[in-house]
Amino acid sequence: MVKSSCFTENSRKINKVFTIMELTLIKIRQNKLKVKCYQGGELLPLIKLQGITRQYRLGQVQVDALKNIDLLVEEGDFISIMGPSGSGKSTLLNIIGCLDRPTSGIYELAGERVEKLSDSKLADIRNRFIGFVFQSFHLLPDLDAQANVELPLIYRGMGGRERHRKSLAALEAVGLAKRRNHRPSQLSGGEQQRVAIARALAGEPAVILADEPTGALDSQSGRNIMAIFQRLNREQGLTIVQVTHEENIARHGHKVIHLLDGQLEKEEALDHPLQALLEESTAAVS
Ligand SMILES: Nc1ncnc2c1ncn2[C@@H]1O[C@H](COP(=O)(O)OP(=O)(O)OP(=O)(O)O)[C@@H](O)[C@H]1O
Ligand SMILES: [Mg+2]
Repeated sequence: MVKSSCFTENSRKINKVFTIMELTLIKIRQNKLKVKCYQGGELLPLIKLQGITRQYRLGQVQVDALKNIDLLVEEGDFISIMGPSGSGKSTLLNIIGCLDRPTSGIYELAGERVEKLSDSKLADIRNRFIGFVFQSFHLLPDLDAQANVELPLIYRGMGGRERHRKSLAALEAVGLAKRRNHRPSQLSGGEQQRVAIARALAGEPAVILADEPTGALDSQSGRNIMAIFQRLNREQGLTIVQVTHEENIARHGHKVIHLLDGQLEKEEALDHPLQALLEESTAAVS
């Protein structure tokens, strides 16, 4: 791991023994401690992709899912990735989330090269740095909302009391503390997705990666998810990268990345993202 210089806002050098990754997490988890991390005099982005390619080989056929992708994600960004089906959106998100490795190119996460790390190191990074949200929620049906949110904390070896506190705080952040004892089947689709977001938040990740988070939801539930993302982004400075097919979902972020045939077609900065308000459904759920 590369050691780099980190300074508090009043330029006091704080610690040389931590890696940039560890300091980024300390900074995110104790957001009062403003730490800026530099390498060679340059402020580090949270995510930096350079010349990323991903090829799949199926027998004689080679699929170029990603071609020479360069991408910077700064801390506090809210980015939407759009593109037609098959354009490489999920492949890109999986590489950013260390679920997959690029065929070639450089990936730096919080200043550390990660593209060639072993499976177990990538799993550790995923566990500590990344919160995933998927289209189909992936909640365990026999566990109630709070137990679902606690699961990743159990994998981290966290004690019961702390788990309980963090999972409750995460459910509060998505407006579902009162439904903590409900199982997924007793929640609407939009509420299940909010539990999935709480599960991603509970681990206090550096970045939330969401693949079609509203793809299985009606439009109001989709807007609720955007309202939660916008509030987390605005109030906690949480970095969010979401993949979506839907223009009106994409436009809730600050920037839209358009992919076409595995290539970055254009980046569009949004000065006035759509604003979403969390509206509770009036429909009764048994
Ligand atoms: N495991 C795999 N093996 C072979 N080809 C794959 C694999 N995964 C993805 N691909 C191919 O890579 C390309 C990009 O796939 P990807 O899933 O990233 O697209 P996408 O933009 O997320 O599409 P969608 O909007 O349908 O989810 C596609 O041509 C797909 O068929
Ligand atoms: Mg996809």
